[in-house]
Parts: sequence; structure tokens; C-alpha cells
Amino acid sequence: MRISGKVKSLPVSGIRKFFDIVSQMDDVISLGVGEPDFTTPWRIREACIYSLEKGYTTYTSNYGLLELRKLISADIQRRFGISYDPETQILVTVGVSEAIDLALRAILEPGDEVIVPEPCFVAYKPCVVLADGVPVAIPTGAETGFAPKPEQVEDAVTPRARAIMLCFPNNPTGAVMARPGLQKIVDIARKHDLVIITDEIYDKLIYGVEHTCVASLDGAYERTIYLNGFSKAFAMTGWRIGYAAADAEVIEAMMKIHQYTMMCAPITAQMAAIEALRNGEGDTAEMIRQYDRRRRIIVGALNEMGLDCLEPTGAFYAFPSIKSTGLSSEEFAERLLHEEKVAVVPGNAFGDCGEGYVRCSYATSLENIREAMDRMAAFVRRVNR
Ligand SMILES: Cc1ncc(COP(=O)(O)O)c(C=O)c1O
Repeated sequence: MRISGKVKSLPVSGIRKFFDIVSQMDDVISLGVGEPDFTTPWRIREACIYSLEKGYTTYTSNYGLLELRKLISADIQRRFGISYDPETQILVTVGVSEAIDLALRAILEPGDEVIVPEPCFVAYKPCVVLADGVPVAIPTGAETGFAPKPEQVEDAVTPRARAIMLCFPNNPTGAVMARPGLQKIVDIARKHDLVIITDEIYDKLIYGVEHTCVASLDGAYERTIYLNGFSKAFAMTGWRIGYAAADAEVIEAMMKIHQYTMMCAPITAQMAAIEALRNGEGDTAEMIRQYDRRRRIIVGALNEMGLDCLEPTGAFYAFPSIKSTGLSSEEFAERLLHEEKVAVVPGNAFGDCGEGYVRCSYATSLENIREAMDRMAAFVRRVNR
């Protein structure tokens, strides 16, 4: 069967390729996966089971259960002081993954450009392409704490520029961009009438710094599509629940696509999300405490073995430079996997400027982290000898 040229042109995710190899091997310690190692807290699972017992097994409104949208709206209002009308400005989606796709498809005309600071989540650029847009990558590096410089954003704006995608806390770098820098980007978006798509899925996983919600910045609200979800903060990757909040017209446009392609997010998972927002805060706090402990240990160990690693202040990733070893990211990851049975993700999977780095997820046990760091230190010593 003939496959569409657009789809054919998409690369297979660099992460997937690598983990196909990992899955064939025994005894590998994986720092590769981007998902919590915790099981969804029991109270959330129990609420879901109870909803099934009570017979909640139907479609919901295309927008999602109103009760859930009200809780999402209240959560955003409480944390960031901005209001979204639960009736018209919030759409519950099948993960943030679907929300990214819907946001792009709702706003792009063929050939419109979307500015994407890299390194970034692997789905952004393919989703832009699938929405007939053109991704315009801007590289960032450790020297700016993996934050795009305002002049880079300004230089990337052409007459076809339509939107910019932001993601802080960031996957894969763990970087959190502070309010003044984000405000400068919002000002540029305003000047050039760009939509801001902000993926804040890691916003609750933050260590010793403050999260800035982009939509809360001066002049941002009207032009921002705010995306968030339950996968990371509540260890609910398998439930597939995310949401978008924005201007009612944009949400309605996104809802139309969602209506014809998904119908609605699964009711059982929506019931679980309701419980997460009502009573899950303490569970998230405990996970954050554990991530923070692991974060300090992994960053300390990486720096000690001579791999420069900027302190990540969000998400659950460390992104050390491996440039001192003289190996490329892929050589480093492949050799580390075969020689020491430790899996990390080559940084170039997240964009060309990720070359020279690897992503290490610390969403795994302390015991695994310690053992993986011992093996990695031995590997680095051997390579540098
Ligand atoms: C930055 C970012 N956005 C979105 C997603 C996808 O999240 P979801 O499980 O809600 O689809 C991920 C998953 O790794 C991610 O890292």
C-alpha cells in the first residue's frame, strides 16, 4: 500500500529505535524512559474502580466531564491566578500528546512556521509537519541554561511565523526558565502576533525554584494555548489524560477535531483524574520529595565523573555533556549500553543541538541510580584513559 509522503518523511523517534535494542537485552539498568517509576496512587486507582462499579462506562461530553473541567479551572486559578471558563475554555484530551496535535492543527495553515526551541520533546516537530506546518528549530545550550535567547527568537520570525512552542520544565534538559526571560519571549510573540503553545506537563515536578505559567505573563493570556496533564505529576502515563486551556474560539476549534477523531477521553480515566485533582496533592508531594533526592545524587555523580551537568530544577531528567569523552552522543549511548548495560538516550534524539549530551532519567530507584552511576563512571574512566 502506498504511504503518504508526509508520513514517510517523518523519522522514527530516536528514543524508540534505541529502546528496541534495549528490549532485546537482559539486566540493563535503564535511565532511558520518560515516565514515573511510581504506580498511580491507590486512592486514584480506587476512585476509578469505584466509578466502574457504579456503572460509569459511557461517552462523556466532547469537552470532557464538566466536573473535571471545573477542577482543572480551579487548580489553574489557585496556582497561577488566571481564569478559564470550564464550560468553554477547557478541553480534556487523550494525554498532552493529543492536545499538542489538536493545538497545531487548529491554528496552522499549510506552510505556516512554528518556532521550536531545541532540545525538545520528540513529538513537537513531527506534529508540526503532520499539521502541514514547517518547524523552525532554534538551538539552545548549557551556556544559557537551555533557554532560548530573545534575539534567537526574534531572528527566527519570518512573515510565515505563526506560533512558538515552549516547554518548561523541559524534557530532556530539566531546565526551568525564569519569569523575566519568559516575559521577553511573550513580548516578542506579541510584537509579531504569534500564538504561544506552552506544554507545562512537568510544572508540578519542580525543585527549589518557582514555576512560571506562561499564560499568566503580561500580554500572554489571549495568545496562549496552555497544555497540561496527569501523566507525570500523578504517575498516570497509562491513563492518557491531558487538557488544553485557551481562548474559547481556539478550544472550540480543537474540540471539533477531537470530536471527529477521538470523540472524548475515556470516562474511567477522567474519573481517576477527578480524584487526582481532589485528593492527590499529598501523593505528588511525596513523589517530588523522592525525585529531588534522586536528582541530587545523579547530578552529583555525573559531575564527579567529569561530565558537566547543569543542575536540572524540574521534570526528572539530567542532561550531562559527554563532550569531554570525545564520543558522539550515539557512540556514548551505544557503548555504555553494550559495555556496561546502562541505557541513556542520545541527546541528538531531541534535536541537532542535543549532540554532545545524553539524557538520563532519574525516574527509577535510588539503588538503580547508584549502580548505573558506578557503571557509567567506570565507562568514562575507560574511555578517557
Ligand atoms: C514535554 C512532554 N510533553 C508531553 C508528553 C506526553 O504526555 P502525555 O502522556 O500526557 O501524552 C511528554 C511525555 O514524555 C513530554 O515529555
